Amino acid sequence: MERGLLIVFEGIDGCGKSTQLRMLAERLRARGANVVETKEPTNGPVGKRIRAMAQSGNAVAPEEELAWFIEDRREHVRDKLEPELAKGSIILCDRYWLSTVAYQGARGFATDEIMRNSEAEFPIPDLALIFEITADEGLARVNARGGRSEPVFEEIEFQKKVEKNFAALERGWIVRVNARPAVEVIHDDVVDRVRALGVLID
Ligand code: TYD
Repeated sequence: MERGLLIVFEGIDGCGKSTQLRMLAERLRARGANVVETKEPTNGPVGKRIRAMAQSGNAVAPEEELAWFIEDRREHVRDKLEPELAKGSIILCDRYWLSTVAYQGARGFATDEIMRNSEAEFPIPDLALIFEITADEGLARVNARGGRSEPVFEEIEFQKKVEKNFAALERGWIVRVNARPAVEVIHDDVVDRVRALGVLID
């Protein structure tokens, strides 16, 4: 059976990636594709621990935070991403290791090292869409949708560093999407990028 596709959705908090993921999933399913929607941090035990920490406002040591994201990803790759890729599914993943490069890089870890280690250990995406807005715009959107829920990550100086780290990423499989226009306009852009992978889509 043909191997599936891994498409990841990335960007700072409030960039609108989750909305775009849902819209693309719907569009692909209408075309009969076997689509799997998933996310990191996951809903597994380690992912839940990360969310509880982020929502509590009590950050753990950066080393521990980094280790948790990697542990969560290891389980996600083993239990879901690899089996679904083997089945030929199109996986749409809300955050993956470019988030570790950008966020834990903003905590002070070397971004090139996280990138190298991730590329060596985990499946490389067929496509990574980075939804671009500024940190100020992102936080304004987070506030508009009901305020900060994860104070450990949603802080302006931190988000600015994350934005800078995302902006510096360069790989053939990474594309940037302007996340400022209306959702339908962004969606059309996303569809064009996915079509370029050879996926049938109307
Ligand atoms: P998430 O619950 O997906 O938040 P959102 O829906 O706002 O994107 O992710 C929680 C936070 O975890 C988010 O601020 C980004 C951060 N994060 C990292 O710091 N490193 C990582 O490797 C991942 C996957 C997420």
